[in-house]
Amino acid sequence: MDHFVYRAGRLWAEDVPLAEIAEAVGTPVYVYSDATLRRHLGLFQEALDWGPHLVCFAVKACGNVAVLRLLAEAGAGMDVVSEGEWRRARAAGVPGERIVFSGVGKTRAELRCALAGGVRQINVESEPELRALSAVAAAMGLEAPVAIRVNPDVDARTHPKIATGLSGTKFGIPAARAREAYRLAASLPGIRVVGVDVHIGSQITDLAPFEAAFRRVAELTEALRADGHRIERLDLGGGLGIPYAGSGEVPPLPRDWGAAIRRTVGHLGCEVTVEPGRLIAGNAGVLLSRVLYVKEGEGRDFLILDAGMNDLVRPALYDAHHDIVPETEAPPDAPRRVFDVVGPVCETGDIFARGREMPVLAEGDLVAFRSAGAYGAAMASEYNSRPLVPEVLVRRDQFAVIRRRPTFDEMIARDSVPPWL
Ligand code: LLP
Repeated sequence: MDHFVYRAGRLWAEDVPLAEIAEAVGTPVYVYSDATLRRHLGLFQEALDWGPHLVCFAVKACGNVAVLRLLAEAGAGMDVVSEGEWRRARAAGVPGERIVFSGVGKTRAELRCALAGGVRQINVESEPELRALSAVAAAMGLEAPVAIRVNPDVDARTHPKIATGLSGTKFGIPAARAREAYRLAASLPGIRVVGVDVHIGSQITDLAPFEAAFRRVAELTEALRADGHRIERLDLGGGLGIPYAGSGEVPPLPRDWGAAIRRTVGHLGCEVTVEPGRLIAGNAGVLLSRVLYVKEGEGRDFLILDAGMNDLVRPALYDAHHDIVPETEAPPDAPRRVFDVVGPVCETGDIFARGREMPVLAEGDLVAFRSAGAYGAAMASEYNSRPLVPEVLVRRDQFAVIRRRPTFDEMIARDSVPPWL
């Protein structure tokens, strides 16, 4: 459930008409719903309320500081994968002890920054990283709280570009080598083992791969405890899929995911951390865009929008499906037309939907990309020198620009010309 609904024939975000935002801020623009973000976070908190837990929002999905602050106020911790994300979380007011640091290639500078400024746990993904962290922490006279990310060799049955739990990927330490890695961790100065971490991929629409991975984590935890390690926390990652309207996928509910966690690892008495991103932010955001032109091509019609692949790259990168709906509701019997929905970027791949049947639209009409709150603005770029897309947050009948559109001058001023030119 989300808070983007038609009222009297116009699309609203909570109690604000999207047309009003388009008018005030211009398009393209991302619009998030405060109530939907909170609701989705709450679903995870409820799903895990059978035991001690912390829901850490995956900042990579939507890193705007305002979004992080509202989630943090509602009790979320943060899962970060870079110093930039760690700084965003801190700027949003999240204390270090609620920030988990993940990622396959953390630099020594990033590790130092997190240790100095506060971190709940560092999810280590390789033996060399463990040694680097040990050296950094020991030099600072600190002990780094560590979980080792294990690769359970589970097929998450999702898009290959976002599957991380198979043994051929770069992620984690193979489960078969995990006990050895923990032995190494226990022997190194500056390292304090606190838990086990796993994350098998994203947009997973079936509970079975999660259960398989969590069972492996449970077995491993028992083995590690028998080896004398104190395993107090399990970080079970994110990855729960969302219903992308029109995609036909029906993912499990957070409640069922939470029950699967309880079934598989509940008996271990560990504190459970999870790192959902997409499910919290995805359906809490839309990308609003305006139709620039309707162009008749050779045997196909193009709806050319003012949003491009630089603003929302998911269709180009993952063949992702995003529902694209008119801001003005079309009556059920309104004529429909088949469009290729495209952006203005000079690439054939700048296409949001091919052969999509939708209500007839005309120049100047507004459309909304649904399910765009996660990995939308966060993955946007300035390709084609299109200034970074702005973001707006709605709360009931109020809205605020939470990232403004940079001016052309600001964009260009970051470049510098060397003295010899
Ligand atoms: N934890 C870790 C360690 C991750 O790598 C990820 C996502 C998450 C948590 C959050 O997963 P989520 O709950 O959002 O599925 N750009 C792609 C998705 C990449 C996901 C990368 N890792 C997309 O637009 O589909």
